[in-house]
Amino acid sequence: MIGLYVHIPFCDGKCPYCDFYSINAKTDKKEEYVRAVLNEMNMRKSYGLADTLYFGGGTPTLLKPSQIEKIIKYAVENYGLSYKNEITVESNPNTLTDKKLFELKKIGVNRLSVGVQSGREAELQALGRNHSLDQVMKVIERAKYEGFDNISVDIIIGAPGQTSKNIYDTLAFVESLNVQHCSFYQLKIEPKTAFGLNPPKNIAGEDEIADIYLTVVRQLKKIGFLQYEISNFAKKSKECVHNLKYWNRDEYIGFGPSAHSFVDGVRYFHDRNINEYIDDVMKVKQEKVLDADFEWIMLRLRLVDGVSIADLKKRGFWNDDFKLKVKRLQYAKYVEWKDDRIFLTPTGMMVQNAILLSLFK
Ligand SMILES: C[S@@+](CC[C@H](N)C(=O)[O-])C[C@H]1O[C@@H](n2cnc3c(N)ncnc32)[C@H](O)[C@@H]1O
Ligand code: SF4
Repeated sequence: MIGLYVHIPFCDGKCPYCDFYSINAKTDKKEEYVRAVLNEMNMRKSYGLADTLYFGGGTPTLLKPSQIEKIIKYAVENYGLSYKNEITVESNPNTLTDKKLFELKKIGVNRLSVGVQSGREAELQALGRNHSLDQVMKVIERAKYEGFDNISVDIIIGAPGQTSKNIYDTLAFVESLNVQHCSFYQLKIEPKTAFGLNPPKNIAGEDEIADIYLTVVRQLKKIGFLQYEISNFAKKSKECVHNLKYWNRDEYIGFGPSAHSFVDGVRYFHDRNINEYIDDVMKVKQEKVLDADFEWIMLRLRLVDGVSIADLKKRGFWNDDFKLKVKRLQYAKYVEWKDDRIFLTPTGMMVQNAILLSLFK
């Protein structure tokens, strides 16, 4: 089964750290854009049956629910998607009015991903966010009232002003929201963003970021979140089924500008340009092909359950030299080896690239 990703490239403004592709939501192109996405979905419907649908952004909740509904219905009618499958919509808290939450639930959205970013007002301001903590609490409460029982929040590790001490405030805030899933992304300073051009001065250094990350992993475990990927934590059985497809090298189709796809062993993507996309929805570029086995291990090591020795043998990695390297990494506490499985420790996850290099050089 494949995953469907639909990119919704509209935002109220541009957050100073964000490099995801979006244009100003005041555009009059939304209706035309939805038609283009439906057009692409029509062209690619022979690719297979889907069991997840994920609206990412941008800010998908800046579309009208009726526009989102058209895409969901199309996936149900043409890709065999069921309303019981995971249907996620990313959102910015300030777009989630009571009415919108009611309508999103009604049209079949069953998983909400909310961009909370921090549990400290000062950090929200430094991140240029247009919502308060109070607003987040009200929105999450209302979402639960409307029947959402699969809610995720995004938090940024390394936000300006965040320290290994005050991260506990953000963790307490996340705990108080009592949601099913959270993603803690380490702030990446992207060159073409406002932060890239003018980096904030009060960002924690590498060692402190490592402390913050390890605190997050430890504390989330205490409050019932199981880590299943470098940046992702879920209550029991609430892992994101769609995102797991990326790390398991399962197939997915990405619709819309900047969206990536992986079908029949080929990776391709759309350019970051809504006008070009509307003009020709089938225009894509192929990505550089990595060795499939190497790509597999690279992706699998992001997951907390890592790789099995049986799979390593099947793919021809397991020999005396590889085993010795694993033992060294285990001794340095970057890797754990339990029964038939090898996986990264939280410390290892922070230096995943270096570990891959040491295993394959
Ligand atoms: C594509 S955004 C969509 C969320 C929604 N538009 C919002 O802002 O509330 C998904 C998430 O990516 C994360 N993100 C965006 N830029 C980032 C960066 N430069 N470094 C780390 N995380 C980033 C944020 O946590 C954000 O919530
Ligand atoms: S973080 Fe969200 S709201 Fe801000 S620019 Fe990126 S996609 Fe848009």
